[in-house]
Amino acid sequence: MKIIVTDTYEEMSKKAAEIIANKIIENNKCTLGLATGSTPIGTYKNLIKMYEDSKISFKDVTTINLDEYKGLSADHHESYRYFMNDNLFDHVDIKKENTYVLNGLACDDEKECKRFDEIINNHKPMALQLLGIGENGHIGFNEPADFFPFGTHLVKLSDSTMAVNKRFFKEEEMPKYAYTMGIGSIMMADTVLLIANGPKKAKTMRDSFQGKVTPHVPASILQMHKDAIIIGDKEAMKLLDL
Ligand code: F6R
Repeated sequence: MKIIVTDTYEEMSKKAAEIIANKIIENNKCTLGLATGSTPIGTYKNLIKMYEDSKISFKDVTTINLDEYKGLSADHHESYRYFMNDNLFDHVDIKKENTYVLNGLACDDEKECKRFDEIINNHKPMALQLLGIGENGHIGFNEPADFFPFGTHLVKLSDSTMAVNKRFFKEEEMPKYAYTMGIGSIMMADTVLLIANGPKKAKTMRDSFQGKVTPHVPASILQMHKDAIIIGDKEAMKLLDL
């Protein structure tokens, strides 16, 4: 596990984007696992700038996203498909048909999860999986549990995730369920890159990367990955003993 501490969010975002860009430069047909949330927005801005400066092209890149709220359509402003279009895909030369996000409106949960696992299987290994981290240590929407789920599944969001994410849902009710890629699929990526910023993430960063490996802190499994890169700003990393 490689741990990098940066002074600022901007520096964290730039470093993360450079690592992702290098994967594209190494293999322009690579598959990238992507995340949503507030943390990767700066990383995506840097990637867009690199594309505009002709340093990288997404023309032959495939992307697979971690998760999606159940019940939200692709054009709902809080859906993760909408987020990805808005924060990355609409600004680079990626082919939309090569971008995979779970279908929040799927009628049959089992079928949707199976469909997504097949997509993951057809593209494995992913060159890199980008991750944020929840305040409770979740990665994707793999919430603290008694075991590490392997494949794509439907989750009931934990009370703490509901409390943290409800800020995005103003007048309407926040979905209580989401589909998420499993921990097994995340661990199969050649490289996992986790980014975190701000003091609210400090405790979970210590528990995840200097505590014991346990499904009660899902991100702790990354300690077992052969190429995990953890980048945090100094606020998020302040409780780690480095
Ligand atoms: C999003 C995702 C989540 C977020 C996490 C942190 O696709 O998988 O695990 O990475 O909830 O969210 P932010 O970045 O908003 O703090």
